[in-house]
Amino acid sequence: MRKRMIAGNWKMNKTFSEAIVLAQGLAKELEGGTGDVDVVVAPPAVNLKGVAEVIEKEEAPFALSAQNVYWEEAGAYTGETAPNMLEAVGATYCIIGHSERRDYFGETDEDINKKAKALMAHGIVPISCCGESLEIREAGTHVEFVVDQIKKDTAGLEITDPSKYVIAYEPIWAIGTGKTATADDAQEVCGAIRKTLVEIFGEETAAGIRILYGGSANPSNIAGFLEKEDVDGALVGGASLKADGFADMVHSAMA
Ligand code: 13P
Repeated sequence: MRKRMIAGNWKMNKTFSEAIVLAQGLAKELEGGTGDVDVVVAPPAVNLKGVAEVIEKEEAPFALSAQNVYWEEAGAYTGETAPNMLEAVGATYCIIGHSERRDYFGETDEDINKKAKALMAHGIVPISCCGESLEIREAGTHVEFVVDQIKKDTAGLEITDPSKYVIAYEPIWAIGTGKTATADDAQEVCGAIRKTLVEIFGEETAAGIRILYGGSANPSNIAGFLEKEDVDGALVGGASLKADGFADMVHSAMA
């Protein structure tokens, strides 16, 4: 069955030394282990190596994720980071297609699809984000919109191990706004995503792909989301920046 996952997206927060302190704090909070829950943290790229060193030194029970990648192997792409560079600093996951990257940096589903393929070729697990704007939600077309994103983002992917591809459903209107989707809202879309995955990859593969909810998830509301059949964890923004609160979310997922 699917292992639950709690992933922290630190976004553009924490200097190098602050990131080290946060990673050390989380290592301490999770000293007792994380049971059957996969825990992932995604610091800014310049802090990946430092956090990797904390994980190694403290034998911390969490994995390292990048927040973005470029799909080319090397070359004249100023400011970008290649998959093998992430691999070399110990990142085993990478968030792609976050709505902030789509909105502020013009990323398209085609870009996200190329990023997924490039990561998977290097054995890095994509955490591929999707989700609708408030306008689409209010028009009532959110399910179709997200299903369309999933089809485009997964086009031509070969998923041999379904634990190595993760989807995060993040309704944009719930990100950083304190406005959460209800657990039923999350299940409606995550259930539709699962159905789409069945059509694309077949029952067995679809049943093994984790679908996370993201958008103002916090220690007090996480349990409600996790009760839902097709919600396998959370991609946490703001609430991942405090070691104790984030650890509380991991502990809720372990229960
Ligand atoms: P918040 O948890 O801060 O709403 O952010 C969610 C998110 O975008 C995680 O990727």
